Amino acid sequence: MINTRNYDQLIGDINSLMEGENNLFANLGNILSSIKYNMSWFWVGLYKVEGEDLVLFLFQGPHACTRIKKGKGVCGVAWEENRVIIVDDVSSFEGHISCNASSKSEIVIPIRNKKGEVALILDIDSDLYGDFTEKDAAELQKITSIIEQII
Ligand code: SME
Repeated sequence: MINTRNYDQLIGDINSLMEGENNLFANLGNILSSIKYNMSWFWVGLYKVEGEDLVLFLFQGPHACTRIKKGKGVCGVAWEENRVIIVDDVSSFEGHISCNASSKSEIVIPIRNKKGEVALILDIDSDLYGDFTEKDAAELQKITSIIEQII
Protein backbone atom coordinates (compact mmCIF):
# COMPACT_ATOMS: atom_id res chain seq x y z
CA MET A 1 0.00 0.00 0.00
CA ILE A 2 2.60 2.52 1.16
CA ASN A 3 4.96 1.83 -1.76
CA THR A 4 2.17 2.30 -4.25
CA ARG A 5 1.45 5.89 -3.23
CA ASN A 6 2.06 7.93 -6.32
CA TYR A 7 3.36 11.28 -5.15
CA ASP A 8 4.61 12.26 -8.62
CA GLN A 9 1.03 11.96 -9.85
CA LEU A 10 -0.29 13.88 -6.83
CA ILE A 11 2.19 16.73 -7.15
CA GLY A 12 1.62 16.83 -10.93
CA ASP A 13 -2.14 17.10 -10.33
CA ILE A 14 -1.62 19.91 -7.82
CA ASN A 15 0.66 21.86 -10.16
CA SER A 16 -1.79 21.59 -13.06
CA LEU A 17 -4.75 22.57 -10.90
CA MET A 18 -2.89 25.69 -9.73
CA GLU A 19 -1.61 26.70 -13.15
CA GLY A 20 -2.70 30.25 -14.01
CA GLU A 21 -4.70 30.62 -10.77
CA ASN A 22 -3.60 32.81 -7.88
CA ASN A 23 -6.68 32.62 -5.64
CA LEU A 24 -5.41 31.24 -2.32
CA PHE A 25 -8.65 29.55 -1.22
CA ALA A 26 -9.25 27.94 -4.60
CA ASN A 27 -5.70 26.60 -4.68
CA LEU A 28 -5.67 25.37 -1.08
CA GLY A 29 -9.05 23.68 -1.56
CA ASN A 30 -7.78 21.84 -4.62
CA ILE A 31 -4.54 20.86 -2.87
CA LEU A 32 -6.43 19.35 0.08
CA SER A 33 -8.93 17.61 -2.18
CA SER A 34 -6.11 16.18 -4.31
CA ILE A 35 -4.30 14.82 -1.25
CA LYS A 36 -7.46 13.29 0.21
CA TYR A 37 -8.77 11.67 -2.93
CA ASN A 38 -5.43 10.56 -4.46
CA MET A 39 -4.40 8.89 -1.21
CA SER A 40 -7.79 7.86 0.22
CA TRP A 41 -7.03 9.23 3.67
CA PHE A 42 -9.82 9.80 6.17
CA TRP A 43 -9.30 13.50 6.83
CA VAL A 44 -7.01 16.15 5.33
CA GLY A 45 -7.08 19.69 6.58
CA LEU A 46 -5.38 22.86 7.67
CA TYR A 47 -5.42 24.61 11.03
CA LYS A 48 -4.52 28.30 11.02
CA VAL A 49 -2.47 30.01 13.73
CA GLU A 50 -4.54 32.76 15.38
CA GLY A 51 -2.86 34.17 18.48
CA GLU A 52 -2.33 31.30 20.91
CA ASP A 53 -4.81 29.02 19.13
CA LEU A 54 -5.00 26.90 16.04
CA VAL A 55 -8.36 27.41 14.36
CA LEU A 56 -9.89 24.97 11.90
CA PHE A 57 -9.35 26.28 8.35
CA LEU A 58 -10.01 24.55 5.01
CA PHE A 59 -10.42 20.77 5.12
CA GLN A 60 -11.72 17.69 3.32
CA GLY A 61 -13.55 15.11 5.39
CA PRO A 62 -15.93 14.93 8.35
CA HIS A 63 -16.42 17.91 10.67
CA ALA A 64 -13.57 18.39 13.14
CA CYS A 65 -12.50 20.17 16.34
CA THR A 66 -12.49 23.91 15.72
CA ARG A 67 -9.88 25.25 18.16
CA ILE A 68 -6.65 23.77 19.55
CA LYS A 69 -4.37 25.50 22.08
CA LYS A 70 -0.63 25.84 21.51
CA GLY A 71 1.11 22.76 22.90
CA LYS A 72 -2.11 20.71 22.99
CA GLY A 73 -2.82 17.65 20.87
CA VAL A 74 -0.57 16.49 18.07
CA CYS A 75 -1.23 19.69 16.12
CA GLY A 76 -0.48 22.00 19.05
CA VAL A 77 2.78 20.18 19.83
CA ALA A 78 3.87 20.22 16.16
CA TRP A 79 3.23 23.98 16.16
CA GLU A 80 4.99 24.67 19.46
CA GLU A 81 7.99 22.53 18.57
CA ASN A 82 7.91 23.50 14.88
CA ARG A 83 8.39 19.94 13.68
CA VAL A 84 6.74 17.13 11.76
CA ILE A 85 5.03 14.52 13.95
CA ILE A 86 3.98 11.04 12.85
CA VAL A 87 1.70 9.14 15.23
CA ASP A 88 1.27 5.43 14.44
CA ASP A 89 -1.48 4.92 17.02
CA VAL A 90 -3.30 8.01 18.19
CA SER A 91 -4.25 6.36 21.50
CA SER A 92 -0.55 6.19 22.41
CA PHE A 93 0.06 9.96 21.98
CA GLU A 94 -0.47 11.65 25.32
CA GLY A 95 -2.91 14.51 24.92
CA HIS A 96 -4.08 13.48 21.45
CA ILE A 97 -7.31 15.30 20.60
CA SER A 98 -9.84 12.91 19.12
CA CYS A 99 -12.16 14.65 16.67
CA ASN A 100 -13.41 11.38 15.19
CA ALA A 101 -13.18 7.82 16.52
CA SER A 102 -12.27 6.58 13.04
CA SER A 103 -8.86 8.30 13.13
CA LYS A 104 -6.18 5.75 14.03
CA SER A 105 -2.92 7.32 12.85
CA GLU A 106 -1.91 10.83 11.97
CA ILE A 107 0.78 13.04 10.43
CA VAL A 108 1.13 16.73 11.21
CA ILE A 109 3.37 19.13 9.26
CA PRO A 110 3.97 22.80 10.13
CA ILE A 111 3.75 25.33 7.27
CA ARG A 112 5.78 28.52 7.68
CA ASN A 113 5.21 32.02 6.38
CA LYS A 114 7.86 34.17 4.69
CA LYS A 115 9.17 35.21 8.13
CA GLY A 116 9.72 31.55 9.04
CA GLU A 117 6.91 31.50 11.61
CA VAL A 118 4.40 28.63 11.67
CA ALA A 119 1.25 29.99 9.99
CA LEU A 120 -0.67 26.82 9.16
CA ILE A 121 -0.64 23.19 10.23
CA LEU A 122 -1.34 20.40 7.75
CA ASP A 123 -3.05 17.55 9.56
CA ILE A 124 -3.80 14.23 7.88
CA ASP A 125 -5.67 11.42 9.62
CA SER A 126 -5.93 7.81 8.49
CA ASP A 127 -8.44 5.19 9.57
CA LEU A 128 -5.58 2.65 9.52
CA TYR A 129 -2.91 2.26 12.21
CA GLY A 130 0.68 3.11 11.21
CA ASP A 131 -0.31 4.56 7.86
CA PHE A 132 2.40 7.24 7.63
CA THR A 133 6.14 6.78 7.06
CA GLU A 134 9.17 9.06 6.79
CA LYS A 135 8.74 8.73 3.00
CA ASP A 136 5.23 10.19 3.30
CA ALA A 137 6.63 12.98 5.49
CA ALA A 138 9.30 13.83 2.91
CA GLU A 139 6.84 13.76 0.00
CA LEU A 140 4.16 15.72 1.82
CA GLN A 141 6.74 18.37 2.69
CA LYS A 142 7.11 18.98 -1.06
CA ILE A 143 3.44 19.92 -0.98
CA THR A 144 3.74 22.07 2.13
CA SER A 145 6.62 23.86 0.37
CA ILE A 146 4.22 24.67 -2.47
CA ILE A 147 1.79 26.08 0.11
CA GLU A 148 4.60 28.12 1.70
CA GLN A 149 5.15 29.79 -1.66
CA ILE A 150 1.53 30.93 -1.99
CA ILE A 151 0.72 32.15 1.54
N1 SME B 1 -5.92 14.86 16.37
C1 SME B 1 -5.53 16.24 16.31
C2 SME B 1 -6.73 17.14 16.30
C3 SME B 1 -7.21 17.49 14.94
S1 SME B 1 -8.08 16.27 14.19
O1 SME B 1 -7.31 15.05 14.07
C4 SME B 1 -8.73 16.74 12.75
C5 SME B 1 -4.62 16.58 17.45
O2 SME B 1 -4.44 15.79 18.37
O3 SME B 1 -4.08 17.68 17.45
